[in-house]
Amino acid sequence: MTYTLPLDEIDKDDVQRCGGKGANLGELTQIGARVPPGFCITADALGYLLSSNSLDGPIAEVASRLDFEDLNALEAATAGIRGMIASARVPTDLEAEILERYRALVSDANRYVAVRSSVAVKDSPISSFPGMMDTYHYVLGETELLEKVRECWASLWTARAAFARHRQGIAQDRGLIAPVIQLMVNADTAGVLFTANPITGATTEIVIESNWGLGESVVSGRSMNDFYVLDKANLGLRERRVARKNVMVTMDLGRGSGRLEQAVPPERSSEPTLSDAQLVELGRTSKGIEDHFGFNVDMEWAYQDGILYVLQARRIRHVGKN
Ligand SMILES: Nc1ncnc2c1ncn2[C@@H]1O[C@H](COP(=O)(O)OP(=O)(O)OP(=O)(O)O)[C@@H](O)[C@H]1O
Ligand SMILES: [Mg+2]
Repeated sequence: MTYTLPLDEIDKDDVQRCGGKGANLGELTQIGARVPPGFCITADALGYLLSSNSLDGPIAEVASRLDFEDLNALEAATAGIRGMIASARVPTDLEAEILERYRALVSDANRYVAVRSSVAVKDSPISSFPGMMDTYHYVLGETELLEKVRECWASLWTARAAFARHRQGIAQDRGLIAPVIQLMVNADTAGVLFTANPITGATTEIVIESNWGLGESVVSGRSMNDFYVLDKANLGLRERRVARKNVMVTMDLGRGSGRLEQAVPPERSSEPTLSDAQLVELGRTSKGIEDHFGFNVDMEWAYQDGILYVLQARRIRHVGKN
């Protein structure tokens, strides 16, 4: 295999090959955290796609003329680049390798995968652009998988990602993306956790935000979420604010794949999303991850049928042990 790596063969030093998300998911897998299994399509696969479709020149040409003062023009130009990548032909050997990994991953009981953007910057310590690229949920079947992988590659060129590179003084051709294909957790409850309070900076606290369904509603800022603060030393509950939850994201049952934002049923709106035992389990899990990495982490997690899955961990910048 040339262009793919299973998560259990990846570690935190693989940022340049697997992007920040892929590298940390690999590290978490290797230390025994319950990470849904999956694999990463390494960063050089996009280079191979572009060269085999003779797209390097045309993309560089559009990229050299991007106008960051004119957001409509920027949107149009980046959409042009995304279109070139999303409609490119995946070389036969690369497609065969992706499908071989995919067939080994899915089963009748676990048919759905997530196609997740994992990014970095060539020859730079930058290993994330939070929320700038695209992730797809409940992807079903080989045709849809290959389509979402191409769209995920293309999302290296969302207007907001190009703008973020520009603002940070990063040459446009230095962005890299390594999609992660991972079994879906059909989340009952999900959210984010910080092993330092992102509001006050207190490193003695753990802050958790959660909502029903996929954590997508929480990370996209679309929902009202339950909010919990734990004492990091003894995992005692310091604060609990149960929100009146309005929207959640689940599988699109009508279509049979993909995600759908919908209203929270009224009877569940004001019910807490996490039990006291789950708060302790989340706190304990995050402390183990923080200890392993040696810095405060921002962790994404989900519960399905009472089982906790870790979906992401990354360093919290500008707070605590950095
Ligand atoms: N395998 C999965 N099963 C269930 N939910 C998932 C899975 N992968 C991701 N999610 C949910 O989707 C959300 C978004 O996915 P992802 O982390 O890939 O992108 P993002 O958080 O929008 O951006 P980024 O992490 O790149 O800043 C995650 O926070 C998580 O809640
Ligand atoms: Mg994320």
